[in-house]
Amino acid sequence: MTGGSRGIGLAAARGLGLAGATVIVVGQDPARADEAATSLREAGITAHGRACNVADAASVAAMRADLGSLGDVDILVASAGVMSQRMAKTLRTDAAEWRRVISVNLDGVFTVVSAFGPGMAERRSGRIIAVSACLGRFSGPGTSGGLAPYRVSKAAVNALIKNLAAETGQGSRGVLVDAMCPNHCRTDMGGPDAPRSAEEGAETIIWLATRDARSADGSPAPTGLLWEDREVVPW
Ligand SMILES: NC(=O)c1ccc[n+]([C@@H]2O[C@H](COP(=O)([O-])OP(=O)(O)OC[C@H]3O[C@@H](n4cnc5c(N)ncnc54)[C@H](OP(=O)(O)O)[C@@H]3O)[C@@H](O)[C@H]2O)c1
Repeated sequence: MTGGSRGIGLAAARGLGLAGATVIVVGQDPARADEAATSLREAGITAHGRACNVADAASVAAMRADLGSLGDVDILVASAGVMSQRMAKTLRTDAAEWRRVISVNLDGVFTVVSAFGPGMAERRSGRIIAVSACLGRFSGPGTSGGLAPYRVSKAAVNALIKNLAAETGQGSRGVLVDAMCPNHCRTDMGGPDAPRSAEEGAETIIWLATRDARSADGSPAPTGLLWEDREVVPW
């Protein structure tokens, strides 16, 4: 669970832990990741804290190596993310700000998928869930511009997920790959006035992680999609 040290990722880790999963909460700050794991253990969950910078492939690979067989995860949730600066319209965004956001929000999904996905493909079993955002949708509502690096990073995450799902056989080889939008939640990123709690935001992550891998007719569950409140949404 990247982004597991705070906010929606921590709420999803708690939900999955209470459902019986062993969870590895990953943050960038080691103390905060440890603190999060301790809080989960106090709730009776088997939890481990780890730190890495998801924007840095070497840092992610080192964490993966350090985990050993504990890193043969059944479920990968990529929730780590950062928001753009408030005035980040495309023509007012400098290269450093662009890179800062894209490196965490997009590269950070690629790095963890690269580290944990091949094992899932080999074992022919797994779930990959990337936390995207409604701001990354360019069809339907929410397409009014601004927050350019953030919006583009999340649209690209949707594309990465759709592409990866196709490459892994649309669920037919045991791996489900999806993106989800938690909606606006009360977290450090979402602020105190957001309409949803982090737990409400995490609900569809938990559902995607625990839903049946097959539909009622035996075909693989629909995958490679963007989900919001358990429904497929266009992007
Ligand atoms: N909150 C919302 O309203 C909202 C709405 C739509 C989508 N989302 C998406 O939901 C996800 C979670 O958001 P949130 O509100 O829970 O955010 P948050 O409370 O700000 O937490 C961000 C998390 O990401 C981790 N992180 C940031 N940069 C990292 C890096 N370079 N390497 C490793 N970990 C890093 C942080 O670790 P540290 O604790 O170590 O800093 C923390 O665990 C994000 O992808 C966000 O874009 C949020």
